[in-house]
Amino acid sequence: MKRVAVVGATGAVGTELRCVLAQREFPAESYRLFASARSAGRRIDWVDGPLTVAELGPHSFDDVDLAFFSAGASISREYAPLAREAGAIVIDNSSAFRMDRDVPLVIPEINAKAVRSHNGILAVPNCSTIIMAVVLWPLHRVHPIRRVVVCTYQAISGAGARALAELESQTADVLAGRPPTPHVLPVPCAFNVFSHNTPIGEDGYNVEESKMIAETRKIFGDDTLRIAPTCMRVPVRRVHTEALSIEFETPITEQDAREILGTAPGLEILDDRAANRFPTPLAAEGRDEVYVGRIRCDPTIPDGRGLQLICAGDQLRKGAALNAVQIAELLSPGSAASERKRGPT
Ligand SMILES: NC(=O)c1ccc[n+]([C@@H]2O[C@H](COP(=O)([O-])OP(=O)(O)OC[C@H]3O[C@@H](n4cnc5c(N)ncnc54)[C@H](OP(=O)(O)O)[C@@H]3O)[C@@H](O)[C@H]2O)c1
Repeated sequence: MKRVAVVGATGAVGTELRCVLAQREFPAESYRLFASARSAGRRIDWVDGPLTVAELGPHSFDDVDLAFFSAGASISREYAPLAREAGAIVIDNSSAFRMDRDVPLVIPEINAKAVRSHNGILAVPNCSTIIMAVVLWPLHRVHPIRRVVVCTYQAISGAGARALAELESQTADVLAGRPPTPHVLPVPCAFNVFSHNTPIGEDGYNVEESKMIAETRKIFGDDTLRIAPTCMRVPVRRVHTEALSIEFETPITEQDAREILGTAPGLEILDDRAANRFPTPLAAEGRDEVYVGRIRCDPTIPDGRGLQLICAGDQLRKGAALNAVQIAELLSPGSAASERKRGPT
């Protein structure tokens, strides 16, 4: 698994992916970077010197063992099967294959074993789903969850590099007294909060909310889990914050929750009531861990079965790039993950 391709290498996720691969010293023999014709020829600094971005095409995968895709669902639908036919394993950040029965939907902290059943394509879950699921799963294993009400406060970079540039230019416009003009997002994003920019279905849920419901059920292997999400965008550069109200089957104390979350992989508790310090996007930016705090019992749910908390996770990192690289490490002997599993010699 040595010759690696990054599709969408110039985008928000692709840029973070390059960063994570370098930081974790992913054991690749060579890298090839792909994007659209717009970026072809662009030189990007890489660990062993600059690499030139190439335009993605049908023969891009002729000498590739592993391909990370983060160029959107339509590109994945068109090119991931070609990459697989050429012999590469695909790790896809888009929504194209997530709900396919033969495609593992993997969060290594939850269902690492699912990678074993792949058929050439593995999917990274939606970013809001990952950030919620890594918090819910350790609780669910000890205290089965009956229902979750979740409200998200999602960063603008979740809509891509151009949306982030729009936040920055609109912020400058507003501060200079000019009206903000939306191009990428449907409404002004600077100094605004708005419902998630995905289409709304007949049931009233937008696509982001529907993904959180369906994907969490698939990852947990529990079709009965009830999740009621409301997904919002806030004028934050990166990191999604989420407020969760969780109803369990049986009573759970605040102390139980702290002990479980405090030892769960991929989490960091930030819950200082005296100083009023809790998870924020700025604290979680660039971090591998999802931050959890505001942990408290919900007295409106009877019998001590309710808990409320907030979490904040870098959606470009754990919500996309890091999770993808973690999956690749599970597949690659000699990688950081397998070295860590083996422990020091
Ligand atoms: N942003 C997030 O927080 C996040 C989190 C989880 C998952 N995702 C998913 O990851 C994927 C990428 O998202 P993103 O936010 O990184 O988007 P982005 O910033 O808009 O980047 C898109 C990337 O795709 C490339 N691309 C576009 N059209 C292409 C084409 N015809 N052929 C080849 N490459 C093409 C772009 O290349 P050019 O630079 O040449 O245009 C760019 O590298 C999406 O499926 C998204 O849903 C995003």
